Amino acid sequence: MGNQIIFLSFILVLNSLQGLQAAVQYDVTNNEANTPGGAIFTNQIGVEYTRQTLESASAFIWRTFGQTNEADRKNVQMVRVIVEDTSRILDVPAYATGNEIHLNTKYIASYTGDVKREITGVLYHEATHIWQWNGNGNGQPNIGNLTEGIADYVRLKADLAPSHWQQPGEGYKWDQGYDVTARFLDYCNSLREGFVAELNGKMRNDYNDNFFVELLGKSVDQLWTDYKTKYGK
Ligand SMILES: *[C@@H]1O[C@H](CO)[C@@H](O)[C@H](O)[C@H]1NC(C)=O
Repeated sequence: MGNQIIFLSFILVLNSLQGLQAAVQYDVTNNEANTPGGAIFTNQIGVEYTRQTLESASAFIWRTFGQTNEADRKNVQMVRVIVEDTSRILDVPAYATGNEIHLNTKYIASYTGDVKREITGVLYHEATHIWQWNGNGNGQPNIGNLTEGIADYVRLKADLAPSHWQQPGEGYKWDQGYDVTARFLDYCNSLREGFVAELNGKMRNDYNDNFFVELLGKSVDQLWTDYKTKYGK
């Protein structure tokens, strides 16, 4: 009897410890299994693979951002993927809003090539939007393209960059967004290991181009010039 009570309270303690570390839930819904893109999603990608990819992408993003403690991360309990025709709202491969990723079945249907790898890369990019800091909306106008660049940086580091991307040194300005900014951030990170993690951390409440000076001792424009010079572009 006494042993049972001790055992029971041990289990209760364990449960409450797990409660403190509530695992993030990942949920995937295919709303258009009967459309061409929805069927390709089912046959070549699948709900379970997408769920697992969200889980490993999230772990990868936390590592890339150096967020070993839950307290460093955004407070997100559940990430959802909805597979649907987004072209009525946004004609893009996918978009993220709040804790939801909307994957476009029209894009899946039109994609030629390894659609599973492509959608895996898209999921890494969109999952980054869910977990990254965005300066609380401060730091316009650069912040939007910078967050897109960080999302593509994560995709690049996960070895999921598509072949059509701009190469290192290409592009006409650092805040062009997406692949151009991702390659530039990769250069900045080579100057200081953990740069992107620190930059993201600084963007928790605010954003300012001066963050580049604080972390690398040079203005972002000077860094862009150095980067172009390094690649002879
Ligand atoms: C953001 O990126 C787009 C596309 O590359 C570009 O046209 C625009 O000028 C950029 N915005 C800023 C504020 O740099």
